[in-house]
Amino acid sequence: MKIGLYGGSFDPPHNGHLALALGCADALGLDRVVLMPSGVSPHKIKQIGAEAAHRLAMCRLMAQADPRLTVSDWETEQQGASYTVDTLTHLTAEHPQDEWFLLTGADMFLTLPTWRRYPAIARMCTLCGIARGETDIRRLQQAAETMQADGAVVSVLPVSAPTVSSSELRDCIRSDDDRWQSSVPPQVAAYILAHGLYRGDSIRNADEQYIEILRGRLSSYRFDHSLAVAAEAKRLALRYGGDPVKAYTAGLLHDILKDTSGEEQLLLARQFGIQLDEVEQNAPKLWHARLAPVYLEHILGISDPEILSAVRYHTTAKAGMSLLETLVFLADFTAAGRDYPDVGVMRRLVDESLDSALHYSLSYTVRSLTARGAAVHPDTAAALAEVTLRLQQKGELL
Ligand SMILES: [Fe+2]
Ligand SMILES: [Fe+2]
Repeated sequence: MKIGLYGGSFDPPHNGHLALALGCADALGLDRVVLMPSGVSPHKIKQIGAEAAHRLAMCRLMAQADPRLTVSDWETEQQGASYTVDTLTHLTAEHPQDEWFLLTGADMFLTLPTWRRYPAIARMCTLCGIARGETDIRRLQQAAETMQADGAVVSVLPVSAPTVSSSELRDCIRSDDDRWQSSVPPQVAAYILAHGLYRGDSIRNADEQYIEILRGRLSSYRFDHSLAVAAEAKRLALRYGGDPVKAYTAGLLHDILKDTSGEEQLLLARQFGIQLDEVEQNAPKLWHARLAPVYLEHILGISDPEILSAVRYHTTAKAGMSLLETLVFLADFTAAGRDYPDVGVMRRLVDESLDSALHYSLSYTVRSLTARGAAVHPDTAAALAEVTLRLQQKGELL
């Protein structure tokens, strides 16, 4: 038999999932598609509004739509994180005669080579990337070629399906906007209503979920630093009229890739078509900031351009920074726990004037890079030139 494995949080399962599962089954001639609701996903933010048992039950209701669909409780039954490699090892051992196809959405497909024990995954199944539209097809085919060169069996499948987002559905349900009901199978809608799912309290605050993800990705030093930068960015936002919620989130996530290996970061760059400039290529310390927005956008589903940009420029800064970008950049210098010779001066300046603090910190950065013989990123030089001019015009710098 040819069997597709379609994993996800299914929180809740919706018509987009259904159309993709059936579209893949048609395109690949699958005899069966196993829907696998995740336990604790190692990749995706756990936007869990509903308990695993509810998600499982809703998947079973959705699976009634077609005899090829089945549901497995294997991942929800595991304690802790469920990795795809473990799931596939289990499934292929149970069904050694069958041919397996791993069905992934476009963004997930691009990150496949970074998944735990990717070569083992690639040996056990055909890797399928679901493309929805021309742009998807082009980016997936490019990535597929690289993966094929490494020996994987890969298939890019154009499948048309309605665009539905589980998080938007949850927002609709929470705000009593009935339109969500047309985006899920009727039995699923009835189940959600009968069990009062996704109302208010059951949805945890996003920052709490990010903190859990950071705990798994960062050293304890970097984890503490991230919390401290979040708190400091929020404090500065309140002081200077910025958005304290966005400042906190951006501060929290600014170093999310800081403890990720260079190899994995370069892989992300390649998969998502990020071109590192000349200075960046020779400065691995800059990569975590350059690539974090890709991770935040495509893995955690954060689309707020202000947050993404504040994270991107937290290391180099740039000319024309927004208030949020400035706050996160400075909070990285003045957060609790930071320890360098000028930290006392920086903390005093940041409470007096953002421009003075910016000027001091950028001069400090340029000085220490130059002392080490390292190149100064053009964005940093431009930021320093700009703030210097601004202070001179105000007569605050000679
Ligand atoms: Fe950083
Ligand atoms: Fe940092």
